[in-house]
Amino acid sequence: MILVTGGAGFIGSNFVLDWLARSDEGLVNLDRLTYAGNLENLQALADDPRYVFVHGDIGDRALASRLLDEHRPRAIVNFAAESHVDRSIHGPEDFIQTNIVGTFHLLETTRGYWSDLAGRERQRFRFVHVSTDEVYGSLGREDPAFSEAHRYQPNSPYSASKAASDHLVRAYHHTYGLPVLTTNCSNNYGPYHFPEKLIPLMIVNALADKPLPVYGDGQQIRDWLYVSDHCSAIRRVLDAGRPGETYNIGGWNEKPNLDIVLTVCALLDELSPRSDGKPYREQITYVADRPGHDRRYAIDARKIERELGWRPAETFESGMRKTVLWYLDNRQWVRNVQTGAYRAWVEKNYAERGR
Ligand code: NAD
Ligand code: TYD
Repeated sequence: MILVTGGAGFIGSNFVLDWLARSDEGLVNLDRLTYAGNLENLQALADDPRYVFVHGDIGDRALASRLLDEHRPRAIVNFAAESHVDRSIHGPEDFIQTNIVGTFHLLETTRGYWSDLAGRERQRFRFVHVSTDEVYGSLGREDPAFSEAHRYQPNSPYSASKAASDHLVRAYHHTYGLPVLTTNCSNNYGPYHFPEKLIPLMIVNALADKPLPVYGDGQQIRDWLYVSDHCSAIRRVLDAGRPGETYNIGGWNEKPNLDIVLTVCALLDELSPRSDGKPYREQITYVADRPGHDRRYAIDARKIERELGWRPAETFESGMRKTVLWYLDNRQWVRNVQTGAYRAWVEKNYAERGR
């Protein structure tokens, strides 16, 4: 079986569901259930004997060590992290704790387990560290996209903490020979995306008749990848990636934020028109920019295509349509995550932006 950390979050829960839909290999999910962890995403697995959920912290070495000894996984896929840039600006400490210190403890626990393995078990063991393109910093409009050789130049507490974790993972390979693989992926979107991030926030605000807050001039560029494509890339890296290597994962799909918001609006105009017949784009409001906002991210995903034969299956159009339809079909899920804590965050993040 495999051990997944952070499997109750957005990408992790998509990965867990896809994994068990495709293979009979069991999966243990270790998740601390922060505000971003949601067991409702995994309700379909409640009675599945191949699936084990464990509530706990990646930094809890006694717990993680017991889990490894008990389940003897052939691989660990580390999704667990604090993941939201705006939250990292308001309060970086949790990012340091989980993304850096937590990853360090998980690496130490894994090193202990792996060192005691022998023969084939030791040879085939893998540790996949799921990271982000944000570690590379910001690109100018004409700069070539991030390759795996691009220098690290993180600009937010979030990206700095992920960069630090990537360095630790690299060092555990270089120093101890731990068979690690790191993936650096662009912005994901799709089902179960927590509505603090751009695309789900725009969908749920639009449907609730609320403003659609675009930071700054809305011309910041991101590369967007449908989440199931990220999951298939990680499976491919786990199966065939070379230990010690890093793989950039992207959708070949760079878009300015404003285009993303307009796409959400157009899809909603078609699929769930406003009762007054007006277009959703009328709800767009420009608000104060994010401090230190990175202008452009772009991924050169040729290495994973060349070496592992991976390319995204979904187009931007098909992925966005699926995503909007998912939110329209899962309004109770949205209501359930919009707790008091969620409302307090939205108040805090947008109050100062002069909405
Ligand atoms: P998320 O915030 O939705 O989920 C994170 C999960 O980790 C939650 O279930 C949370 O409870 C859990 N967690 C947090 N701290 C923990 C701890 N100390 N111990 C155990 N579990 C803990 O994040 P996501 O968007 O699903 O991202 C998953 C990973 O992918 C992260 O490492 C992130 O940096 C990376 N990533 C995300 C994106 C994106 O667009 N969302 C893109 C590239 C890379
Ligand atoms: P986000 O989804 O937070 O992801 P990241 O910062 O990791 O790329 O934001 C995506 C882009 O959308 C980013 O450039 C910030 C912008 N944004 C807005 O314009 N308005 C919003 O309300 C949010 C949450 C993000």
